Amino acid sequence: MADRPLIPRPPWRGRRVVLGVTGGVAAYKAVQLARDLTRLGALVDTVATRSAASFVAPLSFEGVTGRSVYSELLSGEGSALHIRLGNQADLVLVAPATADLVARAAQGRADDLLTTTLLVTRAPILLAPAMNDRMFSHPQTRRNLEHCREVLGYHVAGPGVGPLAIGEGEGPGRMLEPEALVDHAGRLLGRDPTFEGRRVLVTAGPTREPVDPVRYVGNRSSGRMGFALAREAWLRGAEVFLVTGPSELPDPVGVHTVRVHTAREMLEEVESLIPEADLTAFAAAVADFRPREIRPGKTKRSARGEKLEIELVENPDIALETVAMRRKGSVTIGFALETEELRERAAGKLEAKAFDLIVANDPGVEGAGFEVATNQVLILDRDGGEERIPLQEKGEVARLIMDRAGARLAVRGEGG
Ligand code: C5P
Repeated sequence: MADRPLIPRPPWRGRRVVLGVTGGVAAYKAVQLARDLTRLGALVDTVATRSAASFVAPLSFEGVTGRSVYSELLSGEGSALHIRLGNQADLVLVAPATADLVARAAQGRADDLLTTTLLVTRAPILLAPAMNDRMFSHPQTRRNLEHCREVLGYHVAGPGVGPLAIGEGEGPGRMLEPEALVDHAGRLLGRDPTFEGRRVLVTAGPTREPVDPVRYVGNRSSGRMGFALAREAWLRGAEVFLVTGPSELPDPVGVHTVRVHTAREMLEEVESLIPEADLTAFAAAVADFRPREIRPGKTKRSARGEKLEIELVENPDIALETVAMRRKGSVTIGFALETEELRERAAGKLEAKAFDLIVANDPGVEGAGFEVATNQVLILDRDGGEERIPLQEKGEVARLIMDRAGARLAVRGEGG
């Protein structure tokens, strides 16, 4: 996906992931998962149960990870393979986790390489259940999963709702998609004490101000920068709220996403969320003006040469109107899109809207600004600091922005 190029990057880069694969139809998706994690820079050791091999050939995993696939508890590798794998792991991810694996994990069984590794490791364990919906809703399966979560401290992602194996109904029981599991894994690998337990609010996208039932005044913002910031904060462990205008991007994994249309709707959502936010990023490209009134029917083309006048009134400035509602000790990031006098204008907005950081960019620069996956920005802070971030993918820019914001959040401590 263009929005998520798979290049080595934190929190995956250089981390050891034991990928447990059990015997379910969803095992084919585990190959994609292994590939994506590897491309993000993780070192993926696959542990496949014997029944997994009935669904996907171990060679497929070897092919995408470039590393060995293990199945046997007692093998020529030496008897302590499970000790080595369990000790070295930064994360053990079981995908798919069948009802049988969940039951054996809940009991603490140690009858194969995967379950013994689960007992050895002290790294976080993430289960991605995948099974028939009846098996999933069985009280014993529920209980086993609850035990894994509540007593053993395992993390559980999914299952989702959607078509199961052919002829089996619609779930819940379906394994989450590899893209979602990559992010769940990232959140466990990327835990950052500065962000854990914090609330982050991000505005994103354009707003659309209706002219009549079919037309609107808007702009070309795609929402990418804001979505990338929300995802980044979630990967670091925060609870994230994203308030976005119309965007084609899917909801970021784990993020509470609220979709609005107009600036006034966005303001209303921000007003209800900002008092609790430890960090707020105003990445939305809010329309400065809206039509004074919405015409009741579709505006018709009239006699030739006749002018159509639409009176525009100013929209509220969301960042400015909510300054007094900000939580004490919170950190606020603003954005500025300027075609001239970039630094001066951004510095003016930093001051006027009481931001801690402002991220300025010029859409005239090739590869920066609206509708593209990359950005080149200038970050100014309220202490006079200034940093130029060279052109790169928006996810990377988001990471660098969150590094800067996190440093400020850390020194402010718990806030008010
Ligand atoms: O549009 P302007 O360049 O003034 O935007 C600067 C900052 O203020 C951005 O962070 C933007 O999200 C925010 N803003 C806002 N509400 C507006 C206009 C801008 O929150 N109506």
